[in-house]
Formats: sequence, C-alpha cells, structure tokens
Amino acid sequence: MKAVILVGGQGTRLRPLTLATPKPMVPLANKPFVSYVLEHLKEHGISDIVFSMGYLPEGIKAYFGDGSGMGVNLTYVVEDQPLGTAGAVKNVEEHIQDGDFLVLNGDILTDLDISGLIEHHRRKEAMGTIALTPVEDPTAYGLVRTGSESEVLGFLEKPSWDQIDTNLINAGTYVLRSEVLAMIPAGIEYSFERGVFPRLVGKGLYGYSSECYWMDIGTPEKYLQAHYDILEKSVETSVSDCLDQDFVCVQGKIDLKTGAKIVPPVIIGEGTVIEAGARVGRMAVIGPGCTISAGCVVEDSIVQENCTLEREARVRGSIIGAGASIGAGTLVDGGAIVGGNSKVGGDNILTNHIRIYPDTTVKAGTIKF
Ligand code: GDD
Ligand code: MG
Repeated sequence: MKAVILVGGQGTRLRPLTLATPKPMVPLANKPFVSYVLEHLKEHGISDIVFSMGYLPEGIKAYFGDGSGMGVNLTYVVEDQPLGTAGAVKNVEEHIQDGDFLVLNGDILTDLDISGLIEHHRRKEAMGTIALTPVEDPTAYGLVRTGSESEVLGFLEKPSWDQIDTNLINAGTYVLRSEVLAMIPAGIEYSFERGVFPRLVGKGLYGYSSECYWMDIGTPEKYLQAHYDILEKSVETSVSDCLDQDFVCVQGKIDLKTGAKIVPPVIIGEGTVIEAGARVGRMAVIGPGCTISAGCVVEDSIVQENCTLEREARVRGSIIGAGASIGAGTLVDGGAIVGGNSKVGGDNILTNHIRIYPDTTVKAGTIKF
C-alpha cells in the first residue's frame, strides 16, 4: 500500500524554528522529525511513500534522497502553490494505485497501530477510515463524532467550545479508497477536513479509535513535550534503544569533563563538550557539536546542533536553535525560543515565550524580561 505524507505546510506556529527549516526537518531528539514517520510506516510494512511538499522542499529531498538509506522508496511532488490537504493528495494522483492508500499529516509523533487501522477499514469495507485520538481540548483539531458501529456522524474542523460533545479528534492518519480522489477538485485549494470528510459522512466514512501515544508537534509547547515523552520513553521510537537503563543516550563520542554533571533523562549528540561544573538535565536534549561551558545549566530544554553556551548561561524550558550562542550569565527560560545562528550576548534575561529570530544579534545586557 502506498502512503502520502503531507509536508507542505509552513509550520507558522513553530516559528522561528521553521523559518529556514521546514517542519519535517526540525530535529526531534537530534533527527529530522519526519524520519520518525518514515520509521513508523516501515514498521507496518509500508515502504512506498510519496512526499507532498510545498514549503522549503529542497532540504527534505537532499536529506532523504530516494529513501534507500532508510529502507523505503520515496517519491517527491512539489506544489507550485498550497493546494490544501486534499488538493495536495489529488496532485499526486498519478502515483496512487487503485485500491486503498494511506494519507498522513507530516507533523504527528505516534505509535498508532497502522496495521490495525487498515484492518478496521477493510472489515468495514469503508470508503475512508480516520484514526481518532482523545484530547483534552479539541478546538485546535478536527472533531469527529462517531456512532455505535464506528461510523462517522459528523466532522467539524477547529470546533468552537459550544460544539464540543466528544473528546475524539482526527489523528491525521487516514486509509482511503482511490475512489475518494474523484471527490477532490484538481488544481485548487481543497481540504479533507472542511471538504472531503464532511461530504463523506454517511457514505462509508469510519473512525478507528485506539489507545496509543499521539502528539501533533506543531507548536513549541508540543514540540518540547514530544522531547520529554521520548526522554521518558512514553513513546516507543528508535531513540528508545539508545536510552540506557539510566535514561542516558549518548549519540557518539562526547567530551564530558571531570566535574560535569549529567542528570537523566538526557540525550547528548556526538562531539559535544560539557565542561566541569556544567549541569545537563534533567530533561535535556543537546545536539551534536555543542559546547556547554562551566557553570551552565540546561534543563527541560532542547539545544540544537552546534550551539555554544558560555559560562553560567542557564536554559530552562526553552529551545535554542542550531548554531546559536548564548552569552555568559544569560538566562533563557519560560518557553523562550532562540532562532538558529543568533548571538545572544551575556547577562540577558529571555523569558515569557520570547522568540528571537534567526541570525539575530542581541547585545549584552539588553533584554531583561
Ligand atoms: N502538501 C501540502 N499542501 N501539505 C499541507 C498543506 C498544503 O497546502 N497544508 C497543510 N499541509 C500539511 C502540513 O504540513 C501538515 O503536515 C498537515 O498537512 C496538517 O496541517 P497542519 O497545518 O499541521 O494542520 P492542523 O494541525 O491545524 O490540523 C490538522 O491536523 C490535526 C491533527 O494534528 C487537521 O487534519 C485536523 O483535523 C487534525 O485534528
Ligand atoms: Mg498539525
């Protein structure tokens, strides 16, 4: 069975991390996010995969190539303009064979039983089957009402609070019959969520709800949470094997100086230097090629590759983009994001979800909130 992964979105909610890097290439535990999606598909025997792309496609192609490095067979289709989720699938129609195919949103970390979803779809002889997952706040998702036979009774994208009568939402993975392609107009923006699914209600559309790990990584909070969940092994990923009994994963050779403290769970990338008196963890992912200087603290945070933290810099609950440097004594806290290659001078206080754009220079002692 073929799978289409939708990766054309701009990832606006993850800016500035997605300004130069498309969401699928934003690293999760030091690997491009979408590599987890590919690994997951492969585990369920799906290896023919089409990437439907729009925004910044080149980095994805350059990294994955024909997919043979991961044991999959990849095809790339780039849109001239965003066609919406369904329009994007219509646009790759020539790569889809008759019968059933899979569609996946490209920003979901999950251990969903894809084989179980396909089986359910076939048992119901469905036109389409949507994986469902419960969430506390369905307003950011597609609400799906189902009946006793798991048939979909209603699909409501981004419902308002007064419309919410179930906690089950569209988990962003579908099995569809190729006949569904005929419902999608070609060449214009059209979505599954506001177009195809509402029209398929009562016409063979089913839901498949299951207990699984599920996270849309599309906001900084969720992106951080996905790291915490990987660190605690709340979700099975290829990184789980690297995390040893003590929940430490070192991805290659690192330079851990005597007197440096590692507080698990942590993941540390190859070639990173951690100096005496620095503390990494708990809950930290440090990319390859970083320098964490004496007296630094990194906890509940992500530091992407090739970053430098100067003496006594502290990073808590925040994200430091690749190649950034944080000056001595600076505090980065409370959901702050420092964009890639930025240079933040010493004695700054970056908190309250502040977002520093990539390649920005912040002079010493200029920001104090
Ligand atoms: N090729 C292509 N073209 N891909 C697109 C386009 C497009 O025009 N628009 C969005 N995508 C891709 C995004 O890159 C992402 O991987 C996926 O489609 C979903 O888009 P998001 O922008 O992340 O949507 P959302 O998170 O607000 O809502 C969707 O996902 C929820 C689950 O996380 C909907 O499918 C909801 O119904 C669902 O609950
Ligand atoms: Mg999303």
